[in-house]
Amino acid sequence: MRKPLFAANWKMNKTVSESVLLAKALKNEFLGLTNREVVLCPPFTSLSAVAAEIRIAPIALGAQNMHYEKEGAFTGEISPFMLQELGVKYVIVGHSERRQHFNEGNELINKKIKSAAAFGLHPIFCVGETEEERKKKKTKAIIGKQVKEGLKGVSEFEMRKVNIAYEPVWAIGTGKNATPEQAEEVHEFIRNLVKRSYNDEIADNLRILYGGSVNPENVEGFMIKSAVDGVLVGGASLDPKKFVKIVKYDY
Ligand code: PGA
Repeated sequence: MRKPLFAANWKMNKTVSESVLLAKALKNEFLGLTNREVVLCPPFTSLSAVAAEIRIAPIALGAQNMHYEKEGAFTGEISPFMLQELGVKYVIVGHSERRQHFNEGNELINKKIKSAAAFGLHPIFCVGETEEERKKKKTKAIIGKQVKEGLKGVSEFEMRKVNIAYEPVWAIGTGKNATPEQAEEVHEFIRNLVKRSYNDEIADNLRILYGGSVNPENVEGFMIKSAVDGVLVGGASLDPKKFVKIVKYDY
């Protein structure tokens, strides 16, 4: 059974004090929630303070990015070794905003996935097509390439730590979510690819999240699809009321 994962991507929002307030508003909301997992991904500057705030809550900590090296002359970068010490469990890798604005390609993303797993972190590996690519019916070709290149040489052991997030670029921050059926089709495609590259057991245990304009009104439509194992939430995760409603959509 795959335990649904609800991931909050705060992106470049919230100072340390604002992050603490948001974490405070959330920390008692998920007590007793054993059938789903919640992870908060604040900016790097807030990781430590949020870690302290959620220490006894059933909430995991995630980072939004990382470098693949353990340490060294990489000015401005943060390593998996540093994240590990803060109690970070998850790390978002290959988000489309990093691909778009920071030129991250599949090869770099692949290095980050392997490194994250080697440091015991669980990557949330993001893939997704642009509007143009969908219009040209290239969705599966693009996603297939991102998945294959992103997972190149990733061992079975490492793959057990990986989560994949399908986030169509045209749905991120636009209020224009994919339909649950569109998500389902891509999720099934990804799971089959993983089945072919690895095995049934790894594919069956792999969590595939949907991301892109998820909100309290549309979350249930995605979650009732057996191919959808959780959601990656940006904008709506900055509002504690909305994020709680998303996580507890059927309560
Ligand atoms: P959104 O962002 O929920 O604001 O569309 C999702 C994401 O980028 O992870």
